Amino acid sequence: MAKYDNSFTDELRQRLSLVDVISRRVPLTKKGQNYWGCCPFHNEKTPSFSVSEEKGFYHCFGCGEHGDIISFTMKSENVDFKTAITELAEMAGLKLPEIKQKSQQQIEKEKTYIDITEQAAQIYQNLLYSESGREALEYIKNRGFSDEMIKKYRLGYAPKNNIISSKFSGIKTEKLVSTGLVRIGDYGPYDFFRHKLMFPIFNAHGQIVAFSGRSLDGSEPKYINTSDTELFHKRQTIFGFNFARDFIHRQNRSIIVEGQIDAIQMQVHGFPETVAPLGTALTEDHIAILCKSNRNITFCFDGDTAGQKAAMRACLLVLPFLRDNSDVKFAFVSGGKDPDEILKKQGTSAMQKIIDDAMPLIDFLWQSVNKNYLTQTPSGRTQAEKFLKDCISKIKDKIFQNEIEQEYNKRKFNEWHKWSRKTNIINIEMPNIVDRSTNILKSIVQTYPELSEKYVEFLSSLNISFDEESEKTDLSLKDAEDYIKKLQLKKLLDRLNNERKEFLSNIKNDSEENKNKLKLLNDKIQEVTNKLKLFNE
Ligand code: UTP
Ligand code: MN
Repeated sequence: MAKYDNSFTDELRQRLSLVDVISRRVPLTKKGQNYWGCCPFHNEKTPSFSVSEEKGFYHCFGCGEHGDIISFTMKSENVDFKTAITELAEMAGLKLPEIKQKSQQQIEKEKTYIDITEQAAQIYQNLLYSESGREALEYIKNRGFSDEMIKKYRLGYAPKNNIISSKFSGIKTEKLVSTGLVRIGDYGPYDFFRHKLMFPIFNAHGQIVAFSGRSLDGSEPKYINTSDTELFHKRQTIFGFNFARDFIHRQNRSIIVEGQIDAIQMQVHGFPETVAPLGTALTEDHIAILCKSNRNITFCFDGDTAGQKAAMRACLLVLPFLRDNSDVKFAFVSGGKDPDEILKKQGTSAMQKIIDDAMPLIDFLWQSVNKNYLTQTPSGRTQAEKFLKDCISKIKDKIFQNEIEQEYNKRKFNEWHKWSRKTNIINIEMPNIVDRSTNILKSIVQTYPELSEKYVEFLSSLNISFDEESEKTDLSLKDAEDYIKKLQLKKLLDRLNNERKEFLSNIKNDSEENKNKLKLLNDKIQEVTNKLKLFNE
């Protein structure tokens, strides 16, 4: 973090009205001493976000967010300390004091870098509208890009020859190389992007830090991106974020699509909060950046197997970021289409429907688990269970984690075991359970789904219908579990006694073998009786 004199931040706080700054983003109304509005940091309909001009602090009674003018700017705009200070200073008409941390040399270097990329973008765009860019222009127009869009997203055309390495003759080659636009080959410097449709990649502040070039002749790979440079880290850069940031805040959610053209088309067709990762891999850093604004993300993937897989990957990445107020969903575009095609062929309302129909994370995970494992078999269920457990453990909020676990326990019980085994069990003769026990068991199952999961093998063997609603039990969790355990032992004892009776009535002789069998049975009966006695003590 850049170090500023405390007196400078104090001066900012003094010069600027907290209410002014906040009400640029959150409508506030005065009530008593303070101003009130709906909290921008969590989802709410009735205002619990209070702002005190006098004290210079805001506080949300709903989610506990708390801070001053600087933290508000950082958090609401999803920017770092330095950027927040810069913005506020501008607002206050103050000159930013020199920062010590960044050397003059570093600043110069970054300036040169951005100068080069900005100029390059301009050169590329001029070329797009020149004779050599005719094919590229035609292509992108065909893909539904207006001139206005081309200007806004600063698309361009990188020609077949070395434009960058030749046009920037006054600049040292090493500086061009540092931007990734030029490489050094055996015969000297050459342009990395040639005969490509060029998409600038902006950082969060709207500066061009890299490019993505789409092939125009069907050659592979379809897209090439600038390799990581000092100012561009692919894993931390989100395509379209500079344009989407404000909207992500206002709409209180972000949409993530797979491709950059998709992101652009979404942004201009009514979904300005849309972004895309660069290349295909979504990273934890991407999620972390988005979650700084809010934790409401709608992922939009292709409905095919690859899309499902990518969605699962995203799901695992996002789990550690989940809070009880997060709204993470998965939308799928089916039929081999992507959002770009949906928007073009079916319009905004069709896309809106896809987004509206998005599946909550909890359901998506459950559905995937059921698709990926054979939950009809004990081993499949075990694997599925291990996987689910692993997923749940990634959730950092313990209370929320617990809540999700209960939810899945309920689903496991209701959907995996829903007495599907009844048919396997009928040939095993089970003594009848008296009505009273049946009712107690029903209420235990109703009250403690985790127990029903744990003792599912036993419970399913009873041929009781647990489907109907029943009263909750007064028993504590421990007593309820003991009750089940005792019943289990009693039933086992009943079964062993029956077995013994049958055995005795059927034996023809007292051979060594038969004697051993009987002894084994007797031992077992003794063992179970002892256990049961222990319980009753
Ligand atoms: P897709 O193959 O789905 O392409 O890759 P797309 O976005 O639909 O591209 P168009 O519509 O044919 O132009 C999705 C994203 O994966 C990255 C790009 O960011 C692309 O937008 N990608 C894809 C690459 O980085 N390299 C590739 O070779 C292909
Ligand atoms: Mn596409």
